[in-house]
Amino acid sequence: MKHIIATAVMTVALTGGAATALADGDPAAGEKFFKSRCTACHTADEGGKNKAGPNLFGVFGATAGVRVASFEKRHSKQLKASGIVWDEDTLDKFLENPKGFVKGSKMNLKVSKEDDRENVIAYLETLK
Ligand code: HEC
Repeated sequence: MKHIIATAVMTVALTGGAATALADGDPAAGEKFFKSRCTACHTADEGGKNKAGPNLFGVFGATAGVRVASFEKRHSKQLKASGIVWDEDTLDKFLENPKGFVKGSKMNLKVSKEDDRENVIAYLETLK
């Protein structure tokens, strides 16, 4: 019995620790998701080329629409003027519905599952 209680306490402690360190997402699962859903339009490596969307290296923590100089003319005016800073909360809202969160955004993809958004955001956070 003592042993069972000790195990339960440890499980709670470990899960709590992981949740604070990484928000809720799993970056490895997020990378897989990124490769299946985002690489049609985005690269993720440092200095990678732009496709239909801008290279995303360093996007986490950056101000929306101004980070990649070579994409400046192709960004929507609305995203450039938004002043949004990309963090877990703003990325979550953007990915759920880009054109709903930033009216006039040119990004044409909605990520409807919360788990997928959390994972891919955890992955974007590693691109630095
Ligand atoms: C069909 C092409 C397309 C796909 C697929 C796509 N994007 Fe985009 N993305 C864009 C375009 C175009 C923009 C620029 C939007 C604008 O300027 O309004 C953009 C912008 C972004 C930005 C903001 C960049 C910045 O510097 O402000 C993020 C973050 C982003 N995309 C993440 C993702 C993620 C994560 C996925 C996969 C779940 C994804 N995108 C899939 C086309 C796409």
